[in-house]
Amino acid sequence: MNSQTMMMLSEKYIAHTYGRYPIVLVKGKGTRVWDMEGKEYLDFVSGLAVCNLGHCHPKVVRAIQDQAERLIHVSNFYYIEPQIRLASLLCEHSFADQVFFCNSGAEANEGAMKLARKYAKEKMKGERYEIITMERSFHGRTFATLTATAQEKYHKGYAPLMPGFKYVPFNDIEAVRGAIDSKTCAVMIEPIQGEGGVKCPGEGYLKALREMCDEKGILLIFDEVQVGMGRTGKLFAYEHDGVEPDIMTIAKSLAGGVPIGAVLMKKEVGESFKPGDHASTFGGNPLATAAGVAALTAILDEGMLENCQRMGDYFLSRLEQMKKKFPFIEEARGKGLILGIELKMDGGDIVKTMMGKGILINCTMGNVLRFLPPLIVTKEEIDRVVNALEEEFKGIS
Ligand SMILES: Cc1ncc(COP(=O)(O)O)c(C=O)c1O
Repeated sequence: MNSQTMMMLSEKYIAHTYGRYPIVLVKGKGTRVWDMEGKEYLDFVSGLAVCNLGHCHPKVVRAIQDQAERLIHVSNFYYIEPQIRLASLLCEHSFADQVFFCNSGAEANEGAMKLARKYAKEKMKGERYEIITMERSFHGRTFATLTATAQEKYHKGYAPLMPGFKYVPFNDIEAVRGAIDSKTCAVMIEPIQGEGGVKCPGEGYLKALREMCDEKGILLIFDEVQVGMGRTGKLFAYEHDGVEPDIMTIAKSLAGGVPIGAVLMKKEVGESFKPGDHASTFGGNPLATAAGVAALTAILDEGMLENCQRMGDYFLSRLEQMKKKFPFIEEARGKGLILGIELKMDGGDIVKTMMGKGILINCTMGNVLRFLPPLIVTKEEIDRVVNALEEEFKGIS
């Protein structure tokens, strides 16, 4: 079968929820992927921040193979060895004391919000259940996470949404102060907004948010589904600001490409979850968490955070130089290897022409070209992408 036939079958048998590019990817190694016809692509999408270690990292592949031969799945009725190992590693390397495992980012956010409400019921005075989230945020596609996602385009057709959410502009601490009332139990925020256009917090904003949550006695939840696991050059993005959340969600690259999600929590908050309060059949299953242990260990042991910082600085400096050359680039921004350039026009066609040149990039919010290369990316690969973009931009100006 060739890719044309595959695409026809996809149209016929798969629900049409995705606008797809016309390639069928069948193989990956490091920073590269290949389509059915053998064409190679340099991957600066990384499965949308999933393949932080690059494709098919040998340690992750081996861990999956070994675990698959030993035990693929058992119920959470029983203790699960790799789940315990992964939770220990995550707690040793973060603010957290406890972890709840699930299967995706949305599910992790559902868990985080349920925990916040449960904690509020037990420990806060009055009826506190409302969660404040940010405009341009993205937290997932389930009903609660969709409602938490303060972007109208994702809400269309799904009314009525869940009650108990309030939205404020990102980076506006006074707006948060104004929104907190006697019903508020938590503020939930991405330390860098990914889908919202690679928007970074202003200096001191997250710290002020932490102080405000403490002052008001409410919880602070960080959604690090996209920016966690080394993407910004630190294992977790909150480390840049020296601010710890009470609850944090991660997913995407946590298991090197195997579906997984996790809610990390402080013990005092986590104690509100009692047996039977929350659960997931597959959450923390042996296969996914064995892959997670291998992935996390590789990120920590193989200099990926250092490479991410170095290559991120270099990449951003090249994007900033490019901004000076082309007046239709509004801004170059980001941290580590989550970078973007905001254009004054639509960016969708540029993604397509770059694909023709064998380079995969992404466009979000219609006009922000987003770059999410694997953390093992090299200077030469960054040069190739920036040079190809410049060539493309010269044709526009
Ligand atoms: C910040 C953030 N939160 C949550 C999600 C949802 O994750 P998932 O698609 O695994 O449900 C995403 C996905 O892009 C995300 O970027």
